[in-house]
Amino acid sequence: MCGIIGILGREPVAPQMVDALKRLEYRGYDSAGVATLEGGHLTRCRAEGKLKNLEQKVAASPLRGRVGIGHTRWATHGRPNEVNAHPHAAGPVAVVHNGIIENFNELRTELEGAGAHFSTETDTEVVAQLVCALMATGLGPVDAVKAALPRLRGAFALGFLFEGEEDLLIGARRGSPLAIGHGEGEMYLGSDAIALAPFTSSISYLEDGDMVVLTRAGAKVFDETGAPVARPVMQSSASAFLVDKGNYRHFMAKEIHEQPEVVGHTLGHYVSFAAERIALPDLPFDFRDLERVTISACGTAYYAGLVGKYWFERLAKLPVEVEIASELRYGDAPFAPGNLALFVSQSGETADTLATLRHAKAHGQHTVAIVNVTTSTIAREADAVMPTLAGPEIGVASTKAFTCQLVVLACLAIAAGRARGNLTEEDEQRLVRALIEVPRHMTAALALEPAVEKLARDIAKNRDVLYLGRGTSYPLALEGALKLKEISYIHAEGYAAGELKHGPIALIDETMPVIVIAPHDRVFEKTVSNMQEVAARGGRIILVTDPQGAAEATVDSLATLTLPHMPATVTPMVYALPVQMLAYHAAVIMGTDVDQPRNLAKSVTVE
Ligand code: F6R
Repeated sequence: MCGIIGILGREPVAPQMVDALKRLEYRGYDSAGVATLEGGHLTRCRAEGKLKNLEQKVAASPLRGRVGIGHTRWATHGRPNEVNAHPHAAGPVAVVHNGIIENFNELRTELEGAGAHFSTETDTEVVAQLVCALMATGLGPVDAVKAALPRLRGAFALGFLFEGEEDLLIGARRGSPLAIGHGEGEMYLGSDAIALAPFTSSISYLEDGDMVVLTRAGAKVFDETGAPVARPVMQSSASAFLVDKGNYRHFMAKEIHEQPEVVGHTLGHYVSFAAERIALPDLPFDFRDLERVTISACGTAYYAGLVGKYWFERLAKLPVEVEIASELRYGDAPFAPGNLALFVSQSGETADTLATLRHAKAHGQHTVAIVNVTTSTIAREADAVMPTLAGPEIGVASTKAFTCQLVVLACLAIAAGRARGNLTEEDEQRLVRALIEVPRHMTAALALEPAVEKLARDIAKNRDVLYLGRGTSYPLALEGALKLKEISYIHAEGYAAGELKHGPIALIDETMPVIVIAPHDRVFEKTVSNMQEVAARGGRIILVTDPQGAAEATVDSLATLTLPHMPATVTPMVYALPVQMLAYHAAVIMGTDVDQPRNLAKSVTVE
């Protein structure tokens, strides 16, 4: 989603801002811009499309200001063109904004009534106009922003720059994240630590409702009541990560290939390899007291939650409700107090997931966040955090975060099974041994890449693709379809294999590829029957299975991808890899922007 950078520097800041915006590219955007002060006057440079367009413009007419704000925009209100690109300006104020100002129409009518002239279709411009109008009444920049903030409804992060103010930047957050970077005689504002990584590793995070006044001498933070507050300065590990593609063509390819390693790291955090036991951190509840678990998330993280449901119900006999966050937050689902609610999120900033966390807390649930970004709002607000150790995920399509989420969910389900007396110590050790072998199986899965790439050539010729699976392979079918459509723009649907005959079978003809995810598990034979139904109607089957499944599948398939044999519990983690690689290669063949697919954002901070 939108990215924000603000720099109070000692040299001209435009090149640094463009560099920081590049690091925020992974969030997804459709236009970008920077503003600095030239001889005290606001100067803006904005461009539609990719950052290289902005870079070319900045190179053609360099900006010399030593203070500035910059932005990558993911359009919500108004088309993704140059006029609507940030920073927006009104009189002496320029502003960059992430999020949505919900009452912008009301404010716009009021400000226009008072004589303001708007030049864009955006909700952001009302913020600039409002602060400008308040300054026209005689308020200074800080007081004008203080007075404007309570008038804004919605979730947002803001960065302000003011004409004639060479040593001032103001930031504010409500809902969307905003970080302060502390340098030597330089200060920074950024929507995350990754943006600030080249400049400083000393980071503080604004809390909800905070406003910060930055000068080169430091940061003064005020909470939503206006009282000065201190926010701790932490050392961010983001700067330690060299966020580049290594030898890969895309971040997504790199991240797919990192999975054996990062899944190993995540396992190391929750498993004792020596004792072959689960080793969870202390949790603020007892699994024996739980009657129900609610899992809430969006997109790929939601599919991880769906896999988790099978594990909790099988291994711990614990009923699980998995809800799409945007539905749960406005639903009337009753919560019995004292139960557990799990929130799964790579970014830890997804607006809907955050809202369900607050909703569940208000309904007396113990809240646990399974997040990749441990400094995120969801991590900070949950009662307990179980980090996924996937490292920064830059490709918009989630890959390694998904498999690491599965690892954490599996460990939790096994721990719940043991605590509730449903699993013996031997069961636990057997399951943990299976988990420990996952990185090795993943390496074997990655070795299938040449075969997957060949299949992708065929898939890329199709307009529609079906994915089928049963049990834990059903959420993987959903995930496979999501991956394919989001990065290759090929229409795809995932179905529970048994549902096929209740409607989607009408789609099957000799042009329709059907990807069947079917390890040789207890529902394998049932899935084979569903494959027969597809084959009988000419559908072209690509079977993803293991040696026993390949030997026993009595159906002609276009191709079979054979993964090693492994215990059923761990198949979702390993089978995710061919599914991801198929989408990746189809997208590469289609020539799409794999790491930043159109219309998508990495961190979805609006609802
Ligand atoms: C798909 C994808 C999205 C995210 C979803 C939730 O590849 O990446 O569906 O999974 O937007 O994001 P997080 O996990 O950051 O809450």
